[in-house]
Amino acid sequence: TMSLPEGYTIRRTKKDDFSGVTSVLKVLTMVGDVSQDQFHSLIDHWDSVTIGDIPMYNSTVIVDTNGEVVATGNVLVEKKVIHECGLVGHIEDIAVRKDQQGKKLGLILIQYLYKLANEYGCYKVILDCDESNVGFYEKCGLKKAGVEMQIRF
Ligand code: ACO
Repeated sequence: TMSLPEGYTIRRTKKDDFSGVTSVLKVLTMVGDVSQDQFHSLIDHWDSVTIGDIPMYNSTVIVDTNGEVVATGNVLVEKKVIHECGLVGHIEDIAVRKDQQGKKLGLILIQYLYKLANEYGCYKVILDCDESNVGFYEKCGLKKAGVEMQIRF
């Protein structure tokens, strides 16, 4: 596994990350108006939902030497009936700040989310992405499986 640049840290997302996380996510998609209060309520929600001892939401940030958020992502743990009530990890909302892309931060973030999911007992981790990101996720060890479909409301 790769290691972070000197002085960078990786940890669970907290309330103070409001401006950092909302700005970094803009490289991924429309974030829209999210107030600080809404973000704080979301963190309370993410911190409160558990499967036994396991947190269901595992929003994570990489922070640089100035304490600024440079990357973010989440792995959600889902408990199923199949695979003897097995756990599946769903990777969601991966984003690396534009000026920090190409420095392996995305790869390090994904490897960290795998480690969390594996420690929690997930038997696999899955995600949906654009065709343009397939090469990145293959470098992260994932293989194409199935087809993403959606209906939008
Ligand atoms: N296509 C092919 N290869 C890629 C791509 C790509 N789009 N992006 C990176 N790679 C390669 C790199 O060249 C590198 O290869 P190497 O080890 O041979 O040098 C390897 O993948 C690791 O790259 P990182 O430097 O870790 O990538 P980065 O930190 O830039 O993060 C990411 C990649 C997350 C896709 C970033 O560019 C980004 O934030 N993009 C915009 C938002 C986005 O599309 N997020 C993913 C949405 S899908 C989801 O969230 C489940």
